[in-house]
Amino acid sequence: MSQFHIKNLEEYFQVYRKSVRHPEIFWEEIAEEHFLWRKRWDKVLEWDFNKPEIKWFEGAQLNITENCIDRHLAAKGDKTAIVFEPNNPEESAQHISYTELYQRVNRMANVLKAKGIGKGDRVCIYLPMIPELAISVLACARIGAIHSVVFAGFSATALATRINDSDCKLVITSDGSFRGAKTIDLKSIVDEALTSCDCVKTVLVVKRIHSEIDMREGRDLWLQPLLDTADSNCPPEIMNSEDPLFILYTSGSTGKPKGMVHTIAGYMVYTAYTFKNIFQYNDDDIYWCTADIGWITGHSYIVYGPLANGATTVMFEGVPSYPDIGRFWQVVEKHRITQFYTAPTAIRALAKEPLSFVENYDLSSLKVLGTVGEPINEEAWHWYNENIGKTRSPIVDTWWQTETGGIMISPIPFATPTIPTFATLPFPGIQPCLMNEASEEITGNPAEGRLCIKFPWPAIARTIWGDHQRYKDTYFSAFQNKYFTGDGALRNHTGYYRITGRVDDVIIVSGHNLGTAPIEDAVNEHPAVSESAIVGFPHDVKGNALYGYVILKETGEERNQDNLRKEINQLITERIGPIAKLEKIQFTPGLPKTRSGKIMRRILRKIASGDTSNLGDTSTLLNPEVVQDIMDNVL
Ligand code: PRX
Repeated sequence: MSQFHIKNLEEYFQVYRKSVRHPEIFWEEIAEEHFLWRKRWDKVLEWDFNKPEIKWFEGAQLNITENCIDRHLAAKGDKTAIVFEPNNPEESAQHISYTELYQRVNRMANVLKAKGIGKGDRVCIYLPMIPELAISVLACARIGAIHSVVFAGFSATALATRINDSDCKLVITSDGSFRGAKTIDLKSIVDEALTSCDCVKTVLVVKRIHSEIDMREGRDLWLQPLLDTADSNCPPEIMNSEDPLFILYTSGSTGKPKGMVHTIAGYMVYTAYTFKNIFQYNDDDIYWCTADIGWITGHSYIVYGPLANGATTVMFEGVPSYPDIGRFWQVVEKHRITQFYTAPTAIRALAKEPLSFVENYDLSSLKVLGTVGEPINEEAWHWYNENIGKTRSPIVDTWWQTETGGIMISPIPFATPTIPTFATLPFPGIQPCLMNEASEEITGNPAEGRLCIKFPWPAIARTIWGDHQRYKDTYFSAFQNKYFTGDGALRNHTGYYRITGRVDDVIIVSGHNLGTAPIEDAVNEHPAVSESAIVGFPHDVKGNALYGYVILKETGEERNQDNLRKEINQLITERIGPIAKLEKIQFTPGLPKTRSGKIMRRILRKIASGDTSNLGDTSTLLNPEVVQDIMDNVL
């Protein structure tokens, strides 16, 4: 018998021990008892981190939407599956029951099929946080198409790169989106992106903001009329366990974004099991994760994990500051939210505002609070604990990644005692370890090193779309026979983990993963720029912000530096999106480089964060004099 629901610390240790000693038996029992399979697996796990190749539940057949929708219909057909809370609080919320979700997903699936989409085809979804986003995701899964959701804050160039990388045949978008007091013309961004995407044959458009848009004859279609005439039954495509479910792009430290590929069965089992335990979800709960479905958090913990548990999950279209900074708490009160899952950057921003915005609302429904995406600092943790949780709701600081598919290190509420800033203990089935620079595992506590995982778990991404070698190089080459996370961590005397941050050139800004290389490429496109280096520096709301060191071309003419800064940020907005804008831009005559020409980012990081002690030996640099110049002109 599996223990699907862990309720106390003793049970956690017991389950954890079993999961490590007998991982295959452990996962097999969970898979067997809690999901609907069309055919049973032949083998629970096959893996080789050197190739790397990982297969879970091979030989089994299933459809994830039968697990997320169909099987709940008999007992929970009238239960709300999705609560949609619009951007504008004056607009009514929608409560979509499991029965209605079934019908809407099936209609959408039939529309996709009618447009020639079938098993294995890639569909790009570029939508705001409206029900059609979740419905499109599930409709793809219903017919075995692979969804690639692109966050609707990305620019046309970023969208085009992602569409082309995975050769999407169809795009689902909307006329526009509401974002606080603003509207964004999504369709024109899609139109611009598609000027360089020959692979896209069809664009389906949701009417959301009722703006005037161009509809390209033969390519663009309004979605609603197609849904109105579509059949509300679409038999699920029977899929193999290891067939891809979706591609989701994440930034790498170099080069183009990585299309992480998640496969069906393992991802389903893992997201469902983690959701149940980490949020201690009970049947009448109303769970709200404030992430966007454009990120992995939304995939795993707005759509798949909750729905696989027959839960009620909230989708919020708006922003925390509209119509005022009390919006999150107003929504908590309105829907009687029981579990609330957000990002440290949102907590820090809200904690800066007067407490009256919190105190106006009744938050007594809350039972569990969560955070994700970046380390949470102690001050923000206490503010969250005292003012939102009223010290009664445990905080789950959940560490995980796009690549891991689900939460890896986290407290289990009401079981694991929490310590601010510690993600605490590994979830059952997860075997973390810390490695030193000499590639040896550091045993014993306390310890600090690079965080790796020694054994596969069901939701690990299986490859990078179209580039398996890069998958191997990025995650399985730094340390023999281990998955390398790219994060540093420390482990205290009781075995609790605290994530200290990235150890590569990925910078996490407001919880968003940004690689330095693509931003530098955008900066370098400016005709006045000859070279640039971007580093992160601590920021009290965003966690980190971006600091750009920019060398201008020598033209002999005076340039207005403020204008240049604006132009550079404009370029970044066009190439990547506003989230990647530079907070500070320092113009400099040079960048510190090693004799082999590598930029010494460590020095630049220290200067940007205002710490000029221990810059190390700079005399071996190719151009040591530039360091003083940079320090003298730091912003
Ligand atoms: O550095 C870690 C940080 O976010 C990275 C993963 O980013 P992404 O793939 O965008 O996924 C974010 C949502 C799962 C990690 O490598 N990170 C995530 N959660 C935490 C965290 N850092 C510290 N504490 C966390 N709880």
